[in-house]
Amino acid sequence: MANLQIGGIDCRDLAAVSGTPLLVYDESKIEQQLAAAIQGFQSEHFETEVVYAAKAFSCKAIFRKIQEAGAGLDVVSGGELYCAKEAGVDMKRIYFHGNNKSDEEISMALELGCGTIVLDNRMECRRLCQLAEEHKKNIQVLLRVNPGVEAHTHEYIRTSGADSKFGISIEKKEEIRQLLQPALDSKYVEFKGFHSHIGSQITETEGFSAALEIMIRFIREMKDIYKIEAKHLSIGGGFGIKYTASDKPIPLGDMAGMLARICEERMAAEGIDLEKLLIEPGRSIVGEAGYALYTVGFGKDTDTKHFLFVDGGMSDNIRPALYQAEYSCDIATRLGEKKDRTYCIAGKNCESGDILIKEAELPSSAAEGDLLVIYAAGAYGYSMASNYNRAGRPEVVFAKDGKARRVLRRETYQDQLRLEADEQLTI
Ligand SMILES: Cc1ncc(COP(=O)(O)O)c(C=O)c1O
Repeated sequence: MANLQIGGIDCRDLAAVSGTPLLVYDESKIEQQLAAAIQGFQSEHFETEVVYAAKAFSCKAIFRKIQEAGAGLDVVSGGELYCAKEAGVDMKRIYFHGNNKSDEEISMALELGCGTIVLDNRMECRRLCQLAEEHKKNIQVLLRVNPGVEAHTHEYIRTSGADSKFGISIEKKEEIRQLLQPALDSKYVEFKGFHSHIGSQITETEGFSAALEIMIRFIREMKDIYKIEAKHLSIGGGFGIKYTASDKPIPLGDMAGMLARICEERMAAEGIDLEKLLIEPGRSIVGEAGYALYTVGFGKDTDTKHFLFVDGGMSDNIRPALYQAEYSCDIATRLGEKKDRTYCIAGKNCESGDILIKEAELPSSAAEGDLLVIYAAGAYGYSMASNYNRAGRPEVVFAKDGKARRVLRRETYQDQLRLEADEQLTI
């Protein structure tokens, strides 16, 4: 029987110092993924940029790691932008996404010197141009378009793409031209190119390959028809990771390399000269590096199930309840023991759907006080965490070479009450 080690530290020691639920990142794994993406994503024909999608997991510590590794940062809100500023991220490396940015957020981006805004629609383009003029600030833009490719895991479909809330369909070329006109005429706003994002947890290259082919043809057509020249192309994120044994993702570095090669081929085929190709991985940078540790509490046997209850749940990881995401787990303090019972791992939130794993094979010796680890918990868990039932967000620790540092402290009851008010409003 062995205990799980994370970053060279026994999980029992981590839980003893920090308590549970606890999210531990193996820092070296984050570094390896960043290095693999950056090294794999190279071309002799154009510049490349790996941009980390902050929504997967954001805090100052991860933003600093992203910057140290030499990657850019994709943010989607004033909150993520503020956190990036406070972390000391180079604002020029920031790509600000979102389908409904407020005036306040756009002004904040302009004032902070944010490098690029990824425009989503016509109204936003007009508003940005007005605000850039008012603030007298320069900014680059990409336009998010919808290539009509939707990919999920290992299947992709070609759709008209017309129903997505994000971006504008590439079929609407004249509308795109009109949409971009204020940016093309602006003294402050510089149009750089296009962006597309086709889905998430994609484990095959076919969807990206189809999207690249469509996007590069579209770029050529926009140049031929309207003389609108895109120099940059971002093909978004969505690279899959291994949650369970059935996931067989392509290693991130290989995937990134393949995309660069496909882009080179398609550019040659269309006679297009791009200056820069970008990818925006989120999940694949932090997902597998994250280990969610819980303490097992009570259990319960029904006629059909053996329940194991843990001290967290949908308040720290809503993905299983939200869209049936699957994970694998172990009793972290009983590694190597025979797994001879199927358990249902349920959280402590007041909701029947608060099930973290429906069926997990674990040793039948699993007992109160054991530590349960959910693997690949580093993406979209903490960032989607809530205070449902007034559960506090868990502590987050980075572990490396036998040393651990707290990067987000546990949210206390007092933290939750800091927003309470009883003030008369003057209306
Ligand atoms: C525009 C954009 N870029 C990047 C990402 C990151 O995707 P992933 O974490 O799956 O790599 C997303 C995810 O929703 C996205 O919408």
